[in-house]
Amino acid sequence: MADIFERLIKNYGPIGQHRERAHGYFAFPKLEGEIGSRMKFRGKEMIVWSLNNYLGLANHPEIRKVDADAAKEFGLALPMGARMMSGNSNYHEQLEKELAEFEGKEDTILMNFGYQGIMSTIDAVCGRHDVIVYDAESHACIIDGLRLHPGHRYVYKHNDIEDFEKQMERATALIQKQKTGGILVITEGVFGMGGDQGKLKEIVDLKKKFEFRLLVDDAHGFGTLGKTGAGAGEEQGCQDGIDLYFSTFAKSMASIGAFLSGPRVIIDYIRYNIRSQIFAKSLPMPLVFGNLKRLDMLRTMPELKEKLWSNAMKLQKGLKERGFDIGKTDSVVTPIYMKGGVEEATAMVMDLRENYGIFCSIVVYPVIPKGHIIYRLIPTAAHTDADIEQTLTAFSETKAKLDAGAYKVEAIPDMADAR
Ligand SMILES: Cc1ncc(COP(=O)(O)O)c(C=O)c1O
Repeated sequence: MADIFERLIKNYGPIGQHRERAHGYFAFPKLEGEIGSRMKFRGKEMIVWSLNNYLGLANHPEIRKVDADAAKEFGLALPMGARMMSGNSNYHEQLEKELAEFEGKEDTILMNFGYQGIMSTIDAVCGRHDVIVYDAESHACIIDGLRLHPGHRYVYKHNDIEDFEKQMERATALIQKQKTGGILVITEGVFGMGGDQGKLKEIVDLKKKFEFRLLVDDAHGFGTLGKTGAGAGEEQGCQDGIDLYFSTFAKSMASIGAFLSGPRVIIDYIRYNIRSQIFAKSLPMPLVFGNLKRLDMLRTMPELKEKLWSNAMKLQKGLKERGFDIGKTDSVVTPIYMKGGVEEATAMVMDLRENYGIFCSIVVYPVIPKGHIIYRLIPTAAHTDADIEQTLTAFSETKAKLDAGAYKVEAIPDMADAR
Protein backbone atom coordinates (compact mmCIF):
# COMPACT_ATOMS: atom_id res chain seq x y z
CA MET A 1 0.00 0.00 0.00
CA ALA A 2 1.25 3.50 -0.87
CA ASP A 3 1.66 6.06 1.87
CA ILE A 4 -0.36 9.09 0.90
CA PHE A 5 2.04 11.53 2.56
CA GLU A 6 5.02 10.02 0.72
CA ARG A 7 3.29 10.57 -2.61
CA LEU A 8 2.58 14.21 -1.77
CA ILE A 9 6.15 15.10 -0.96
CA LYS A 10 7.45 13.39 -4.12
CA ASN A 11 5.69 16.00 -6.23
CA TYR A 12 4.71 19.35 -4.72
CA GLY A 13 2.74 20.33 -7.83
CA PRO A 14 3.34 22.85 -10.62
CA ILE A 15 3.99 25.87 -8.40
CA GLY A 16 4.95 24.10 -5.19
CA GLN A 17 7.96 22.49 -6.93
CA HIS A 18 9.59 25.96 -6.98
CA ARG A 19 8.80 26.77 -3.36
CA GLU A 20 12.34 26.46 -2.04
CA ARG A 21 13.42 29.41 -4.20
CA ALA A 22 10.11 31.22 -4.45
CA HIS A 23 8.43 31.14 -1.05
CA GLY A 24 7.86 34.58 0.39
CA TYR A 25 8.85 36.32 -2.85
CA PHE A 26 7.26 34.94 -6.02
CA ALA A 27 4.71 32.98 -3.97
CA PHE A 28 3.19 33.96 -0.62
CA PRO A 29 4.77 37.46 -0.60
CA LYS A 30 3.88 39.67 2.37
CA LEU A 31 2.66 43.17 1.52
CA GLU A 32 2.77 45.41 4.54
CA GLY A 33 1.41 48.78 5.61
CA GLU A 34 -1.90 50.47 4.89
CA ILE A 35 -3.70 49.08 1.83
CA GLY A 36 -3.23 51.52 -1.03
CA SER A 37 -1.45 52.02 -4.32
CA ARG A 38 1.91 52.04 -2.50
CA MET A 39 2.77 49.43 0.09
CA LYS A 40 5.89 47.90 1.60
CA PHE A 41 7.43 44.64 0.41
CA ARG A 42 10.52 43.41 2.23
CA GLY A 43 10.95 46.92 3.60
CA LYS A 44 10.84 48.69 0.20
CA GLU A 45 8.03 50.86 -1.13
CA MET A 46 6.23 49.32 -4.12
CA ILE A 47 3.52 50.53 -6.47
CA VAL A 48 1.05 47.67 -6.08
CA TRP A 49 -1.01 46.38 -9.04
CA SER A 50 -2.18 43.10 -7.51
CA LEU A 51 -5.10 44.04 -5.29
CA ASN A 52 -8.73 43.83 -6.38
CA ASN A 53 -9.44 46.94 -4.32
CA TYR A 54 -11.15 48.38 -7.41
CA LEU A 55 -12.95 51.33 -5.81
CA GLY A 56 -10.26 52.02 -3.25
CA LEU A 57 -12.67 51.20 -0.43
CA ALA A 58 -10.26 48.95 1.48
CA ASN A 59 -8.65 51.80 3.31
CA HIS A 60 -11.28 54.52 3.02
CA PRO A 61 -11.50 56.33 6.40
CA GLU A 62 -15.31 55.94 6.59
CA ILE A 63 -15.00 52.20 5.95
CA ARG A 64 -12.24 51.81 8.52
CA LYS A 65 -14.43 53.59 11.08
CA VAL A 66 -17.56 51.52 10.41
CA ASP A 67 -15.54 48.27 10.49
CA ALA A 68 -13.89 49.24 13.78
CA ASP A 69 -17.13 50.46 15.40
CA ALA A 70 -18.99 47.29 14.34
CA ALA A 71 -16.21 45.06 15.71
CA LYS A 72 -16.36 46.97 19.00
CA GLU A 73 -20.13 46.78 19.25
CA PHE A 74 -20.73 43.18 18.17
CA GLY A 75 -17.40 41.33 18.41
CA LEU A 76 -16.57 38.64 15.88
CA ALA A 77 -18.74 35.90 17.35
CA LEU A 78 -22.19 37.31 16.68
CA PRO A 79 -24.38 35.79 15.36
CA MET A 80 -23.59 32.28 16.56
CA GLY A 81 -24.61 29.34 14.40
CA ALA A 82 -25.86 28.87 10.84
CA ARG A 83 -28.50 31.26 9.51
CA MET A 84 -31.18 28.55 9.49
CA MET A 85 -30.59 27.52 13.11
CA SER A 86 -29.55 30.48 15.25
CA GLY A 87 -27.39 32.78 13.09
CA ASN A 88 -29.93 35.07 11.43
CA SER A 89 -30.28 38.81 12.11
CA ASN A 90 -32.16 41.84 10.84
CA TYR A 91 -28.88 43.20 9.46
CA HIS A 92 -28.25 40.10 7.36
CA GLU A 93 -31.76 40.44 5.94
CA GLN A 94 -31.33 44.17 5.37
CA LEU A 95 -28.14 43.60 3.35
CA GLU A 96 -29.95 40.94 1.29
CA LYS A 97 -32.84 43.32 0.62
CA GLU A 98 -30.55 46.17 -0.43
CA LEU A 99 -28.48 43.95 -2.71
CA ALA A 100 -31.63 42.58 -4.40
CA GLU A 101 -32.88 46.11 -5.04
CA PHE A 102 -29.48 47.19 -6.36
CA GLU A 103 -29.31 44.24 -8.75
CA GLY A 104 -32.94 44.61 -9.86
CA LYS A 105 -33.83 41.14 -8.60
CA GLU A 106 -36.59 39.98 -6.24
CA ASP A 107 -34.41 38.45 -3.57
CA THR A 108 -30.82 37.75 -2.49
CA ILE A 109 -29.05 35.22 -0.29
CA LEU A 110 -25.78 36.06 1.45
CA MET A 111 -22.91 33.59 1.43
CA ASN A 112 -19.78 33.41 3.54
CA PHE A 113 -17.33 33.14 0.64
CA GLY A 114 -17.59 33.41 -3.12
CA TYR A 115 -15.67 30.21 -3.79
CA GLN A 116 -17.77 27.84 -1.71
CA GLY A 117 -20.88 29.92 -2.42
CA ILE A 118 -20.93 29.32 -6.15
CA MET A 119 -19.87 25.68 -5.80
CA SER A 120 -22.74 25.12 -3.46
CA THR A 121 -25.17 27.09 -5.65
CA ILE A 122 -24.43 24.77 -8.57
CA ASP A 123 -24.94 21.79 -6.27
CA ALA A 124 -28.23 23.17 -4.89
CA VAL A 125 -29.69 24.12 -8.26
CA CYS A 126 -28.77 21.13 -10.45
CA GLY A 127 -30.14 17.61 -10.17
CA ARG A 128 -28.54 14.58 -11.77
CA HIS A 129 -30.64 14.79 -14.94
CA ASP A 130 -29.76 18.45 -15.52
CA VAL A 131 -27.06 19.43 -17.98
CA ILE A 132 -24.56 22.26 -17.41
CA VAL A 133 -23.11 24.24 -20.33
CA TYR A 134 -20.18 26.45 -19.31
CA ASP A 135 -17.35 28.65 -20.62
CA ALA A 136 -13.93 26.98 -20.93
CA GLU A 137 -12.18 29.74 -18.98
CA SER A 138 -14.49 29.62 -15.98
CA HIS A 139 -12.92 30.35 -12.58
CA ALA A 140 -11.75 27.42 -10.45
CA CYS A 141 -14.77 27.79 -8.14
CA ILE A 142 -17.14 27.11 -11.04
CA ILE A 143 -15.03 24.14 -12.14
CA ASP A 144 -15.12 22.76 -8.60
CA GLY A 145 -18.91 23.28 -8.55
CA LEU A 146 -19.09 21.18 -11.72
CA ARG A 147 -17.18 18.44 -9.93
CA LEU A 148 -20.09 18.17 -7.50
CA HIS A 149 -22.52 17.72 -10.38
CA PRO A 150 -23.35 14.07 -11.07
CA GLY A 151 -24.98 14.84 -14.45
CA HIS A 152 -23.65 15.77 -17.88
CA ARG A 153 -21.79 18.97 -18.74
CA TYR A 154 -20.64 20.52 -21.96
CA VAL A 155 -17.88 23.09 -22.20
CA TYR A 156 -17.84 25.73 -24.96
CA LYS A 157 -14.73 27.51 -26.22
CA HIS A 158 -14.09 30.70 -24.30
CA ASN A 159 -16.57 33.42 -25.34
CA ASP A 160 -17.21 31.60 -28.64
CA ILE A 161 -20.92 31.96 -29.38
CA GLU A 162 -20.80 29.62 -32.37
CA ASP A 163 -19.40 26.88 -30.15
CA PHE A 164 -21.86 27.85 -27.40
CA GLU A 165 -24.72 27.14 -29.82
CA LYS A 166 -23.13 23.83 -30.81
CA GLN A 167 -22.89 22.72 -27.16
CA MET A 168 -26.43 23.94 -26.50
CA GLU A 169 -27.66 21.77 -29.38
CA ARG A 170 -25.87 18.76 -27.86
CA ALA A 171 -27.26 19.54 -24.41
CA THR A 172 -30.78 20.03 -25.76
CA ALA A 173 -30.61 16.75 -27.69
CA LEU A 174 -29.48 14.93 -24.56
CA ILE A 175 -32.33 16.36 -22.49
CA GLN A 176 -34.82 15.36 -25.19
CA LYS A 177 -33.41 11.83 -25.22
CA GLN A 178 -33.51 11.60 -21.41
CA LYS A 179 -37.06 13.03 -21.41
CA THR A 180 -36.18 14.78 -18.17
CA GLY A 181 -33.89 17.52 -16.82
CA GLY A 182 -33.07 21.06 -17.86
CA ILE A 183 -30.03 23.15 -18.83
CA LEU A 184 -28.03 25.57 -16.66
CA VAL A 185 -25.59 27.86 -18.49
CA ILE A 186 -22.74 29.27 -16.40
CA THR A 187 -20.41 32.06 -17.41
CA GLU A 188 -18.70 35.12 -15.94
CA GLY A 189 -19.41 38.84 -16.23
CA VAL A 190 -15.70 39.61 -16.58
CA PHE A 191 -13.00 36.98 -16.97
CA GLY A 192 -10.43 37.79 -14.33
CA MET A 193 -7.32 36.82 -16.33
CA GLY A 194 -7.95 38.36 -19.75
CA GLY A 195 -10.34 41.07 -18.56
CA ASP A 196 -12.80 40.38 -21.39
CA GLN A 197 -16.48 40.52 -20.52
CA GLY A 198 -18.58 37.37 -20.93
CA LYS A 199 -20.90 37.56 -23.94
CA LEU A 200 -23.96 37.89 -21.74
CA LYS A 201 -26.11 39.80 -24.23
CA GLU A 202 -25.59 37.22 -26.98
CA ILE A 203 -26.27 34.37 -24.57
CA VAL A 204 -29.44 36.01 -23.22
CA ASP A 205 -30.63 36.63 -26.81
CA LEU A 206 -30.24 32.89 -27.47
CA LYS A 207 -33.00 32.22 -24.94
CA LYS A 208 -35.26 32.72 -27.98
CA LYS A 209 -33.65 29.67 -29.59
CA PHE A 210 -32.80 27.42 -26.61
CA GLU A 211 -34.41 26.69 -23.27
CA PHE A 212 -32.04 27.26 -20.33
CA ARG A 213 -31.40 29.16 -17.11
CA LEU A 214 -28.37 31.46 -16.84
CA LEU A 215 -26.05 31.80 -13.81
CA VAL A 216 -23.44 34.59 -14.03
CA ASP A 217 -20.44 34.97 -11.69
CA ASP A 218 -19.76 38.72 -11.87
CA ALA A 219 -16.94 38.92 -9.31
CA HIS A 220 -15.02 41.52 -11.35
CA GLY A 221 -18.01 43.33 -12.87
CA PHE A 222 -19.91 44.12 -9.67
CA GLY A 223 -19.10 47.72 -8.72
CA THR A 224 -16.96 48.32 -11.81
CA LEU A 225 -19.40 47.98 -14.72
CA GLY A 226 -22.81 49.41 -15.60
CA LYS A 227 -24.20 52.88 -15.07
CA THR A 228 -24.90 52.30 -11.38
CA GLY A 229 -22.15 49.72 -10.82
CA ALA A 230 -24.65 46.83 -10.80
CA GLY A 231 -22.30 44.89 -13.06
CA ALA A 232 -21.84 43.32 -16.48
CA GLY A 233 -25.58 42.61 -16.96
CA GLU A 234 -26.37 46.29 -16.52
CA GLU A 235 -23.42 47.27 -18.73
CA GLN A 236 -24.65 45.04 -21.56
CA GLY A 237 -28.34 45.87 -21.05
CA CYS A 238 -29.38 42.30 -20.30
CA GLN A 239 -29.64 42.14 -16.50
CA ASP A 240 -33.23 40.83 -16.68
CA GLY A 241 -32.08 37.87 -18.76
CA ILE A 242 -29.63 36.74 -16.05
CA ASP A 243 -31.62 34.32 -13.91
CA LEU A 244 -29.09 34.07 -11.11
CA TYR A 245 -26.61 36.91 -10.54
CA PHE A 246 -23.65 36.15 -8.29
CA SER A 247 -20.76 38.20 -6.92
CA THR A 248 -18.19 38.10 -4.16
CA PHE A 249 -17.57 40.97 -1.72
CA ALA A 250 -13.83 40.30 -2.02
CA LYS A 251 -13.17 42.72 -4.89
CA SER A 252 -15.05 46.04 -5.34
CA MET A 253 -16.36 45.79 -1.78
CA ALA A 254 -12.86 45.03 -0.40
CA SER A 255 -14.37 42.72 2.19
CA ILE A 256 -15.42 39.09 2.68
CA GLY A 257 -18.61 37.29 1.75
CA ALA A 258 -20.68 36.88 -1.40
CA PHE A 259 -24.28 36.96 -2.63
CA LEU A 260 -26.66 35.44 -5.13
CA SER A 261 -29.68 37.35 -6.46
CA GLY A 262 -32.67 36.04 -8.42
CA PRO A 263 -36.42 35.29 -8.33
CA ARG A 264 -37.84 35.13 -4.79
CA VAL A 265 -39.14 31.57 -5.07
CA ILE A 266 -35.77 30.30 -6.33
CA ILE A 267 -33.66 32.18 -3.79
CA ASP A 268 -35.99 30.79 -1.12
CA TYR A 269 -35.44 27.27 -2.48
CA ILE A 270 -31.67 27.86 -2.36
CA ARG A 271 -31.91 29.35 1.15
CA TYR A 272 -33.36 26.06 2.38
CA ASN A 273 -31.13 23.77 0.32
CA ILE A 274 -27.64 25.27 -0.04
CA ARG A 275 -25.40 23.00 1.97
CA SER A 276 -22.42 25.38 2.40
CA GLN A 277 -24.66 27.89 4.17
CA ILE A 278 -27.01 25.55 6.02
CA PHE A 279 -24.12 23.66 7.59
CA ALA A 280 -21.79 26.62 8.26
CA LYS A 281 -21.70 29.56 10.64
CA SER A 282 -23.25 32.73 9.32
CA LEU A 283 -21.33 35.83 8.17
CA PRO A 284 -20.08 37.69 11.29
CA MET A 285 -21.92 40.90 12.15
CA PRO A 286 -18.98 43.31 11.62
CA LEU A 287 -18.70 42.01 8.04
CA VAL A 288 -22.43 42.45 7.45
CA PHE A 289 -22.26 45.98 8.84
CA GLY A 290 -19.15 46.78 6.86
CA ASN A 291 -20.75 45.40 3.71
CA LEU A 292 -23.87 47.55 4.22
CA LYS A 293 -21.61 50.62 4.40
CA ARG A 294 -19.60 49.54 1.34
CA LEU A 295 -22.76 48.97 -0.69
CA ASP A 296 -23.99 52.40 0.33
CA MET A 297 -20.73 54.02 -0.81
CA LEU A 298 -20.67 51.99 -4.02
CA ARG A 299 -24.20 53.26 -4.82
CA THR A 300 -23.84 56.86 -3.74
CA MET A 301 -20.26 57.72 -4.73
CA PRO A 302 -20.08 57.29 -8.52
CA GLU A 303 -16.84 59.28 -8.46
CA LEU A 304 -15.04 56.17 -7.16
CA LYS A 305 -15.98 54.16 -10.27
CA GLU A 306 -15.16 57.17 -12.48
CA LYS A 307 -11.69 57.46 -10.93
CA LEU A 308 -11.14 53.72 -11.37
CA TRP A 309 -12.03 53.93 -15.07
CA SER A 310 -10.00 57.05 -15.62
CA ASN A 311 -6.96 55.29 -14.14
CA ALA A 312 -7.64 52.10 -16.09
CA MET A 313 -7.94 54.02 -19.38
CA LYS A 314 -4.71 55.96 -18.72
CA LEU A 315 -2.87 52.71 -17.97
CA GLN A 316 -4.34 50.79 -20.92
CA LYS A 317 -3.85 53.67 -23.40
CA GLY A 318 -0.27 54.20 -22.18
CA LEU A 319 0.54 50.51 -22.60
CA LYS A 320 -0.97 50.35 -26.10
CA GLU A 321 0.91 53.51 -27.17
CA ARG A 322 4.14 51.86 -26.04
CA GLY A 323 3.37 48.85 -28.22
CA PHE A 324 2.27 46.40 -25.51
CA ASP A 325 -0.25 43.67 -26.29
CA ILE A 326 -3.09 43.93 -23.75
CA GLY A 327 -5.37 41.47 -25.53
CA LYS A 328 -9.13 41.78 -25.54
CA THR A 329 -9.84 43.44 -22.23
CA ASP A 330 -12.98 45.53 -22.10
CA SER A 331 -12.92 45.91 -18.34
CA VAL A 332 -10.45 47.52 -15.96
CA VAL A 333 -8.46 44.27 -15.61
CA THR A 334 -5.27 44.91 -17.58
CA PRO A 335 -3.24 41.95 -18.83
CA ILE A 336 0.08 42.42 -20.62
CA TYR A 337 1.06 39.54 -22.88
CA MET A 338 4.74 38.79 -23.45
CA LYS A 339 6.88 35.89 -24.62
CA GLY A 340 9.46 34.18 -22.42
CA GLY A 341 10.19 31.23 -20.18
CA VAL A 342 9.25 30.78 -16.53
CA GLU A 343 12.81 31.56 -15.36
CA GLU A 344 13.00 34.71 -17.50
CA ALA A 345 9.63 35.85 -16.19
CA THR A 346 10.78 35.52 -12.59
CA ALA A 347 14.03 37.41 -13.30
CA MET A 348 11.99 40.20 -14.87
CA VAL A 349 9.59 40.31 -11.92
CA MET A 350 12.58 40.57 -9.62
CA ASP A 351 14.01 43.49 -11.62
CA LEU A 352 10.61 45.21 -11.57
CA ARG A 353 10.42 44.86 -7.79
CA GLU A 354 14.02 45.52 -6.82
CA ASN A 355 14.97 48.28 -9.27
CA TYR A 356 11.68 49.88 -10.32
CA GLY A 357 9.49 49.41 -7.23
CA ILE A 358 6.66 47.77 -9.19
CA PHE A 359 4.71 44.89 -7.63
CA CYS A 360 2.38 42.97 -9.94
CA SER A 361 1.25 39.40 -10.50
CA ILE A 362 2.56 37.13 -13.24
CA VAL A 363 0.97 34.09 -14.80
CA VAL A 364 3.24 31.51 -16.45
CA TYR A 365 3.33 27.85 -17.52
CA PRO A 366 1.55 25.55 -16.57
CA VAL A 367 -1.39 27.94 -16.03
CA ILE A 368 -0.83 29.21 -19.60
CA PRO A 369 1.11 27.54 -22.46
CA LYS A 370 4.93 27.29 -22.30
CA GLY A 371 6.84 30.35 -23.57
CA HIS A 372 4.12 32.85 -22.64
CA ILE A 373 4.01 35.35 -19.78
CA ILE A 374 1.01 37.36 -18.65
CA TYR A 375 1.44 40.29 -16.31
CA ARG A 376 -1.88 41.12 -14.70
CA LEU A 377 -2.36 44.68 -13.53
CA ILE A 378 -5.37 45.71 -11.47
CA PRO A 379 -5.90 49.46 -11.51
CA THR A 380 -7.88 50.95 -8.63
CA ALA A 381 -9.42 54.29 -7.73
CA ALA A 382 -6.52 54.70 -5.28
CA HIS A 383 -3.79 54.86 -7.97
CA THR A 384 -2.34 58.21 -8.99
CA ASP A 385 -1.03 59.61 -12.28
CA ALA A 386 2.51 59.33 -10.87
CA ASP A 387 1.92 55.60 -10.14
CA ILE A 388 0.80 55.06 -13.72
CA GLU A 389 3.66 57.03 -15.32
CA GLN A 390 6.30 55.28 -13.22
CA THR A 391 4.79 51.89 -14.12
CA LEU A 392 4.67 52.61 -17.86
CA THR A 393 8.34 53.63 -17.84
CA ALA A 394 9.28 50.54 -15.85
CA PHE A 395 7.48 48.24 -18.29
CA SER A 396 9.04 49.92 -21.34
CA GLU A 397 12.53 49.52 -19.90
CA THR A 398 12.13 45.96 -18.63
CA LYS A 399 10.44 44.81 -21.86
CA ALA A 400 13.46 46.11 -23.82
CA LYS A 401 15.71 44.09 -21.50
CA LEU A 402 13.51 40.99 -21.94
CA ASP A 403 13.68 41.31 -25.74
CA ALA A 404 17.48 41.74 -25.55
CA GLY A 405 17.74 38.47 -23.59
CA ALA A 406 18.92 40.19 -20.40
CA TYR A 407 16.74 37.99 -18.18
CA LYS A 408 17.93 34.65 -19.56
CA VAL A 409 18.83 32.74 -16.40
CA GLU A 410 19.34 29.05 -15.73
CA ALA A 411 16.90 28.81 -12.87
CA ILE A 412 14.35 30.78 -10.90
CA PRO A 413 16.32 33.27 -8.77
CA ASP A 414 16.58 32.08 -5.18
CA MET A 415 14.62 34.72 -3.28
CA ALA A 416 12.93 32.56 -0.64
CA ASP A 417 12.46 33.70 2.93
CA ALA A 418 14.41 31.77 5.52
CA ARG A 419 11.94 29.19 6.94
C1 LIG B 1 -14.80 34.85 -10.71
C2 LIG B 1 -14.58 34.61 -9.24
N1 LIG B 1 -15.51 33.96 -8.53
C3 LIG B 1 -15.36 33.70 -7.22
C4 LIG B 1 -14.22 34.06 -6.55
C5 LIG B 1 -14.04 33.67 -5.11
O1 LIG B 1 -14.52 34.62 -4.24
P1 LIG B 1 -14.12 34.59 -2.67
O2 LIG B 1 -12.76 35.18 -2.56
O3 LIG B 1 -15.20 35.42 -2.03
O4 LIG B 1 -14.16 33.18 -2.21
C6 LIG B 1 -13.24 34.77 -7.23
C7 LIG B 1 -12.03 35.22 -6.49
O5 LIG B 1 -10.94 35.20 -6.93
C8 LIG B 1 -13.42 35.05 -8.61
O6 LIG B 1 -12.48 35.71 -9.31
